[in-house]
Amino acid sequence: MTLERLDFESGVVGRSLGRLRLPEADRASLPGLLAQARAAGFAHLVAHVDASDARGAQTLAEHGFRQVDDAIVVRRGSAEMVPGARPRGLRAARPQDLQPLLQRCGTVFRHSRFYRDDFFSEAQAEAIYRQWIVNCFGGRASLLRVASDDRGVCGFVAARLEAAHAVAWIELLAVASDAAGQGLGRRLLSAALCELHGRVDAVRVKTQADNAAALALYGRVGFEPVARQRGFALRLDSWK
Ligand SMILES: CC(C)(COP(=O)(O)OP(=O)(O)OC[C@H]1O[C@@H](n2cnc3c(N)ncnc32)[C@H](O)[C@@H]1OP(=O)(O)O)[C@@H](O)C(=O)NCCC(=O)NCCS
Repeated sequence: MTLERLDFESGVVGRSLGRLRLPEADRASLPGLLAQARAAGFAHLVAHVDASDARGAQTLAEHGFRQVDDAIVVRRGSAEMVPGARPRGLRAARPQDLQPLLQRCGTVFRHSRFYRDDFFSEAQAEAIYRQWIVNCFGGRASLLRVASDDRGVCGFVAARLEAAHAVAWIELLAVASDAAGQGLGRRLLSAALCELHGRVDAVRVKTQADNAAALALYGRVGFEPVARQRGFALRLDSWK
């Protein structure tokens, strides 16, 4: 069993947040690890288990963890990636797109464990996504495309290449609420697939089971579910 500090989230929230990895054989050592995490000053822990792992979920619940996430990983193989014509009207992101995108898309990621977990205020959940977008513009994403409407940039897709595994992850994909439902999400995703064709074996993305729009979109573009994970959280700041 391991405990790691989540540097990105900790930095945004200004407290020490951690992730537990919980292999089946190691579960008896959970109380000891929790005591260690508390002594080390962790304020919050998260742990994910496979959705089929009822015992893992039960162990976490017995130790005070609450479910905050029901995540689905979807995948699309590159063999079926037909490059085709690039969707029109999209372009590579420029530095000056960042602020308008933060304004129009900074608060759309509501289907997320950060909004569901009462440890995080709404402002903190928003700050995590805003900083994530900033980091994508700062080099985290190897592919960044934007869509525009008559008010300017209104959507983007950011993907990160995991070269060692020949996989690309869609890190973030968003369309402003007032521009949604017009096909922009689909065009952004298709543009990313065109761009990634031949560079990776597969493209993956993690989304939430209750994110109907995202699941519909990924399904339409040929992604298939390959994993489902339940995420559990424990506040250590309120432990007596
Ligand atoms: C998910 C998201 C990017 C979709 O963008 P969009 O521009 O509204 O989507 P599109 O108009 O291209 O629709 C794509 C497909 O999804 C379907 N869809 C879109 N919104 C839907 C909804 N609310 N419920 C069900 N299906 C929906 C559409 O019917 C469409 O299928 P079609 O092409 O066969 O008609 C957008 O809703 C969003 O930004 N959500 C918040 C951020 C987010 O959750 N991102 C995903 C993180 S993994």
